[in-house]
Amino acid sequence: MSFFKVCNLSISFGGLAALNDVSFEVQKGQIFAIIGPNGAGKTTLFNCINGIYTPDEGEVFFKDQKINGLRPDRIARLGIARTFQNIELFNHMNTMENLMLGRHLHMKSNLFRGVGMWGPHSFAGQEEIAHRRKVEEIIDFLGLQSARNQPVGGLPYGTQKQIELGRALASEPEFLLLDEPCAGMNAEEKQDMIFWIKDIQDELGITILLIEHDMNMVMDISDHILAINFGGMITEGTPSDVQKHPEVLKAYLGEEDGEGSA
Ligand SMILES: Nc1ncnc2c1ncn2[C@@H]1O[C@H](COP(=O)(O)OP(=O)(O)O)[C@@H](O)[C@H]1O
Ligand SMILES: [Mg+2]
Repeated sequence: MSFFKVCNLSISFGGLAALNDVSFEVQKGQIFAIIGPNGAGKTTLFNCINGIYTPDEGEVFFKDQKINGLRPDRIARLGIARTFQNIELFNHMNTMENLMLGRHLHMKSNLFRGVGMWGPHSFAGQEEIAHRRKVEEIIDFLGLQSARNQPVGGLPYGTQKQIELGRALASEPEFLLLDEPCAGMNAEEKQDMIFWIKDIQDELGITILLIEHDMNMVMDISDHILAINFGGMITEGTPSDVQKHPEVLKAYLGEEDGEGSA
C-alpha cells in the first residue's frame, strides 16, 4: 500500500499555472518537506490535498484511495489534518475550547448544547467527557497547561501557533500538513516548534508534510525534500542532495550573490 501520493497535479488561476505536473510520494512515518520561494505554489498544493481547491488535472491518493474531488470535511475524516500559514483560531475562546473544536469531526452530538441540556450522565455528557480527556492529553503533550483557560487572542504568537498545532492534533490525524509552522517566530519559538514536530513524528507516529521557508530547519528535521518553483518541480531527494542542487542554491542564495563568498 502506498501511504500518500500526488500524481501529475496541475491547477491554474486565470491562465497562470500555480501548479504544473507535480508528482511525489510520501512514505508513512516521514517528515516530508516542500520548499520553494514565495508564490511557488506550496500553499496551493496543500489546498489541493485537503479539498479546498479542485485540481484541473492529476490525482491525490491517501492509502490508495483517490481523495481529490472529496469535500474538505470528508478528507479530514479520513485522517488528514492541517494548520494554516496565518493563525486561524477563535481569539475570544480559551485554549481548551479551541482544541475542542478540533474534535468536532469525532462528535456525534452537539457538544456545546449537550451537557447543559441533558446533564453529565446523558450520552452527550459522556461523549464530552471523553473528548475533554483527549484534549487534556494534547495539552499535556504540548505543555500548554498554563494557557489552558486563557483566551488565545492574548497569548504570545508562538503559543498561538502551538495551539493551532494542538487543534490539528486533536482530530487524531494520521497525516498532518503544516504550512510554515515557524513563520514569524523568534529563534527560541522556532526551536520549540522543531522539538514538537519531531515529537509528533517520533512519539505519536504521525506522518508530516511540512512547508517551511527556513532552510536550516528543513535540513535539520526532514527525511525527504521536494523543491518547487513557479509551480513546477525542481528536484527532490534527501536534504543533502537537495541542498546541492544548483537551482535550489540559486533560488535560496540568489540574493546573496556577489556578497563576498571569500
Ligand atoms: N485562489 C487563488 N486565486 C488566484 N490566484 C491564486 C489563488 N491561490 C493561489 N494563487 C496564485 O498561485 C500562486 C502560488 O501561490 P501560493 O500557493 O500561495 O504560493 P506559496 O505558498 O508557495 O507562497 C501565486 O501566484 C498565487 O497568487
Ligand atoms: Mg504559502
